[in-house]
Amino acid sequence: MKLPSRVKLVEVGPRDGLQNEKQPVPAAIKIELVHRLQAAGLKEIEVTSYVSPKWVPQMADNHEVMGGIQRQSGIRYSVLTPNLKGFEAAVLDKPDEIVVFGAASEAFSQKNINCSIAESIERFAPVVQAALAAGIAVRGAMSCTVGCPYEGEIAPERVGYLAGLMKGIGVQRVDVADTIGVGTPRKVQAALEVTLQHFGIDDVSGHFHDTYGQALSNTLAALEMGIWNFQSSVAGLGGCPYAKGATGNVATEDVVYLLHGMNIDTGIDLDALVDAGAYISEQLGRPSGSRVARALLAKRAG
Ligand code: HMG
Ligand code: MG
Repeated sequence: MKLPSRVKLVEVGPRDGLQNEKQPVPAAIKIELVHRLQAAGLKEIEVTSYVSPKWVPQMADNHEVMGGIQRQSGIRYSVLTPNLKGFEAAVLDKPDEIVVFGAASEAFSQKNINCSIAESIERFAPVVQAALAAGIAVRGAMSCTVGCPYEGEIAPERVGYLAGLMKGIGVQRVDVADTIGVGTPRKVQAALEVTLQHFGIDDVSGHFHDTYGQALSNTLAALEMGIWNFQSSVAGLGGCPYAKGATGNVATEDVVYLLHGMNIDTGIDLDALVDAGAYISEQLGRPSGSRVARALLAKRAG
């Protein structure tokens, strides 16, 4: 077993995290969160999505948020675009990367983006082409790669099928997402293995939600396979509006603590990250979902 010596984290809190908040979060707070995350050393930040405001009202301020960020060089700012309409809106704000998002489960595809898996790929193809032609990087998110809220367990072959379709339309790298956080290490490894038949090890990332408290174990299981890209959410924010009961992504603070404890470099300043998490938790009026953040804040207070 050879673990990677460094890990790249894509911070998805501003998007995957805040998309699920019931009360509106003002754009100024989202912008300040992004600023604090980049100050903490995050090099990739998923900022917002260009989806229907009727479906996800919380992301309706996408232009305001993207326009308000003071960008730093060397940081990749990514956004979700489900179709050409979304891409055309996104491109005005000059993202470094766009994300098309599909699902390994038919039922989730219908609930989340209102079309079948095959139709989603047809919609994504021109988006991918347009992005690549404009010099914008393209990532593909693959939801429900272990389990689906509507269909239950998902076989690895279905993940492999989706990964092949994503590769076929020119997607450059993919996220293997356990959307509802039901995965355990062997199941997550199986989903990663089939994805690695289509994408190289540098182009596959783990996106684990922590609903059942398995996300750190799953992260370690992925590291053991050589996976070194992960998505996480500061303070463990979030969930998907179309995956009821699913909690947020694994907390970025928890992943960073795990990695630093194993001498794996992230380039992230954990103290500054805890401050960013404390900021957004205070704005949302609840304690952080990160165990590490709570422990470190208690230690500071003591
Ligand atoms: P639809 O209703 O099938 O779309 O929705 P349509 O093309 O038939 O258009 C219907 C209306 O939506 C029209 O407006 C369009 O203009 C508008 P109307 O004429 O009724 O006023 N519309 C749009 N507006 C803004 N931006 C757009 C857009 N497209 C159409 N891009 C659609 C299809 C995909 C738009 C819809 O289903 C949608 O917005 N879904 C939201 C999905 C979403 O954001 N889910 C959460 C993110 S995925 C996630 O969290 C999982 C992930 O983290 C990985 C994991 O954990 O699994 C990535
Ligand atoms: Mg997610």
